[in-house]
Amino acid sequence: MIDSYCISIPALRGPVPLSHLFLGNFLREGHTAVDATCGNGHDTLLLARLVGVSGHVWGFDIQEQAIAETGSRLAEAGLSSRATLLKTGHEELVQHVTGSVQVVLFNLGYRPGGDRSIITQPDTTVVALGQSLGLLAAGGIVLVTVYPGHDGGDEEQLAVENWAAKLDPRAFHSWRMGQANVSLEAPYLIFVQKGL
Ligand SMILES: C[S@@+](CC[C@H](N)C(=O)[O-])C[C@H]1O[C@@H](n2cnc3c(N)ncnc32)[C@H](O)[C@@H]1O
Repeated sequence: MIDSYCISIPALRGPVPLSHLFLGNFLREGHTAVDATCGNGHDTLLLARLVGVSGHVWGFDIQEQAIAETGSRLAEAGLSSRATLLKTGHEELVQHVTGSVQVVLFNLGYRPGGDRSIITQPDTTVVALGQSLGLLAAGGIVLVTVYPGHDGGDEEQLAVENWAAKLDPRAFHSWRMGQANVSLEAPYLIFVQKGL
């Protein structure tokens, strides 16, 4: 049973609710999804709800506390069995995830409420993005919430933009989506779909 979230009207305050809108449209019972940056587990929980009892979620984070927080959130919702959580960098995605996946989700930057010096890094992010494309099923998507505003965020933004711009348009649909009436430093979404 898919959560009613995906048929309610979300308030689109920023790229994270926008990414959730896409997830609700792309993920179905039995699908496989990757949360490349678990953080506090909000996204992982949504993914676990959407893939249903026969689907699976792979969650990555380099911080013990992020994995613990995400694990507790899933346990509270009774959904622990739908996810495998790894205290591992997403640049090791392909060493752990096998088979094709419908969604890979990145929510870059630092963990809200956590240590702001621990942030995603351009080099490892780009490696993980490249690996994600190799895992995608036809029609599958990679969603990246980019945060240009924090220290180091502009370098990562540049790396992600370069990666997205160079994708072959015959193989991938690569999109940039941001709110127009906010600062240029506000977070926004990069969305890549593998061709059908
Ligand atoms: C903005 S937070 C993610 C928010 C999360 N999706 C949520 O729903 O709360 C970014 C996370 O990326 C993690 N991170 C940083 N480098 C990473 C890497 N190489 N691999 C996986 N996670 C990483 C950080 O530890 C942090 O928890």
